Amino acid sequence: MSGKKLVHPDTKLVLGGRRKEWLRGMVNVPVSRTSTVLFESIEEIHAAYPPEDGRLSYGRNGTWTQWSLAEALTELEPGAAGTRLFPSGAAAVSIALMSVLGPGDELLMVDSAYGPTRLFCDRELKRLGIATLYYDPLATAEEVERLVTDRTRAIFMESPGSLTFEVQDVPGLCAMAKARGVTTLLDNTWATPFFFQATGKGIDLSIVACTKYISGHSDLMMGSVTAAPSHWERLARTGQGFGQYVSPDDAFLAARGLRTMGVRLRQHELGAVKVARWLKDQPQVGQILHPALDGSPGHELWARDFQGSSGLFSFALKGADKEARDRFVERLELFGIGYSWGGFESLAVPADADQLRTASSRSYDGPLVRLHIGLEDPDDLIADLAQSLAGLPASG
Ligand SMILES: Cc1ncc(COP(=O)(O)O)c(C=O)c1O
Repeated sequence: MSGKKLVHPDTKLVLGGRRKEWLRGMVNVPVSRTSTVLFESIEEIHAAYPPEDGRLSYGRNGTWTQWSLAEALTELEPGAAGTRLFPSGAAAVSIALMSVLGPGDELLMVDSAYGPTRLFCDRELKRLGIATLYYDPLATAEEVERLVTDRTRAIFMESPGSLTFEVQDVPGLCAMAKARGVTTLLDNTWATPFFFQATGKGIDLSIVACTKYISGHSDLMMGSVTAAPSHWERLARTGQGFGQYVSPDDAFLAARGLRTMGVRLRQHELGAVKVARWLKDQPQVGQILHPALDGSPGHELWARDFQGSSGLFSFALKGADKEARDRFVERLELFGIGYSWGGFESLAVPADADQLRTASSRSYDGPLVRLHIGLEDPDDLIADLAQSLAGLPASG
């Protein structure tokens, strides 16, 4: 089915990667497991290399199960050349960075990056002689340009940022980076390419933790990197060089999730916006850090660049201390306490961003709670939040 002109993201989700020769009469591309591929002749074995999609060579180079998912993800990103799959979102981040950087290079990393992304820079990249300089997520392209030196090889963005949800000027930063010959990478996990087409905005390497909304069911770990043509070969080579791939079973599950991602994301959006607006009116609640809400940092950029918002946001508990905040989270009955997000279920965790930032500092009305709004009825979630807010100590 691929090869047809797919215009709208919903249609792409349904048709993407479903090549006739991979489907062989079925609706879904089946799970094809293998390590060894058998050949009829030595000539045939030579013809299988270098490995590429559509040509079986060895298990680590995939079968149609993984190729189909990768192709569907590529089709969501305008002008992209290809997608590599990784065993986790964190692996996708680290290998994308490794495909660009070498000893002596400098990396500009957004200060609101996901914690393990920071750790990778501060530990592994540092060990390899690669320096990381952090920048404020709300910095303009001109302000970030002042940090660019002749050793700057890449600018990494995450928009909105982890825990505090600042939206960045991705097109502005990309235009500046292109003029300076600097590669741009984006952690696009929150919006996914359904709500934010990163390569269309100028991003060279678009990273998604498929563990979240692509899979959508909290039952697998996976990451993807989708590359612009200028960066595809290097990404594919680095992924292969590090021996990174995913099992066909996980690829099948992720593709199954992808087909319904549009309807799920819109439902997450509806629920999260309703809950966030309700929270805004509660006396115990301070700032709401939700890109779709007026007043959230970078809201105007979200309104300009995104096609929607997903189910993850934070809010401040006004005047509460961290102890009261933690008890608030524990009193919730419909929200699980746990990391990750993007599944069908609601989650709540304390969000202490202050310990992570080094290039920006923002003050909030109290300690932060991060919510993932699942597919439950938002009125039930609101009732649950109301009962837990009512249990806060009177002094806040
Ligand atoms: C924004 C973001 N990027 C990347 C990751 C890493 O994904 P994974 O848990 O699949 O390694 C996460 C995980 O929570 C995340 O929130």
